[in-house]
Amino acid sequence: MGPGPANANPRVLAAQAMPLLGHMHPPFFKIMDEIQAGLRYVFQTSSEYTCLISGTGHAGMEACITNLLEPGETIVIGDKGIWGARAADMAGRFGVNVVDLKKEAGKTFTIAELEAALKEHKPAVLFLCQGDSSTGVHQNLAGLGELCHAHGALLLVDTVCSLGGVPFFADAWGIDAMYSGSQKVLGAPPGAAPLFFSERALKKLRERKTKPMSYNWDLNLIGDYWGWFGSRSYHHTGMVSMWYAMREALQIMGEVGLEGMWARHKRLHEDMWKGLTAMGLEPFVANPADRLVTVNTIKVPEGVDWLALNKFAMDTYNVELAGGLGPTLGRVWRVGIMGYNATPANVELVLTSFREGLKAQGKLKA
Ligand code: GLV
Repeated sequence: MGPGPANANPRVLAAQAMPLLGHMHPPFFKIMDEIQAGLRYVFQTSSEYTCLISGTGHAGMEACITNLLEPGETIVIGDKGIWGARAADMAGRFGVNVVDLKKEAGKTFTIAELEAALKEHKPAVLFLCQGDSSTGVHQNLAGLGELCHAHGALLLVDTVCSLGGVPFFADAWGIDAMYSGSQKVLGAPPGAAPLFFSERALKKLRERKTKPMSYNWDLNLIGDYWGWFGSRSYHHTGMVSMWYAMREALQIMGEVGLEGMWARHKRLHEDMWKGLTAMGLEPFVANPADRLVTVNTIKVPEGVDWLALNKFAMDTYNVELAGGLGPTLGRVWRVGIMGYNATPANVELVLTSFREGLKAQGKLKA
């Protein structure tokens, strides 16, 4: 019940145990096609340019940055937690000019702030993280694609810990590129980064003057393995078992339906906060509208040993809780409500862990 990996659905784990197909054999291409159909549903896009990057969310982040930007171009990073800081670090390594737009941990960017940055810096790309797992904030994205396009920028979004748990509409929101992770709400093990490019983003990629600086993440080559350009060529060995897992995970998303997923995560987040509030615990994110439902940040009260409480939860209930990360280290607990783990029974177990854990430290009566 930390920020992930969440438990994978047993159906997904069973899918991984199937015999290995050749990564260039037509039956395997059919599986890749089915994965892309599932991704289009989960991303809410009709774009042909979807794939799985062979790696974690970091690989997806690096793939998007190196393909969308050429050395000397500018990226504005909406930096409100560890993911913005990492994107800035990566972009700098590729020779991109980085404008690090900082925001206090626990807050989100307003449209006016982003518009001012677009006007001032005229970037090729604006980066935002929808669900920041280090702070537990949810960045609203509606209207931002249009805004970016009006200023000649592409909109790149990280949805690693939010995709499937909160609404996301790639086409309706004018998102140009997005990457996610397999091990959070999607309910698969770590190892696949779902990725999406819009027509605009693809045009930028195809018209580059220089090759993307990473061979491993070159989407001209990876796209040609996933059939983006009407053919299939060998770039690297597709992660066969991991792709089986993702096909099953996406199948499950389709069975539950996105609306059902979003509603379930929201309801459980609300139920958990009712219980936490009754114990006197407070959210780190002050504005309720900015609170991420998939990763919840809970302030550590004065005098409470957060690490001891986590150990208590693990030793007593087999429940994994997490501490803060980056700007929230030592200040919060992070509790994930994600995918297969998003059940009323698990939320109840988290509440019991906090109640009994606080009592064990003499911080809660009765
Ligand atoms: C990793 O994604 C984390 O938020 O800890």
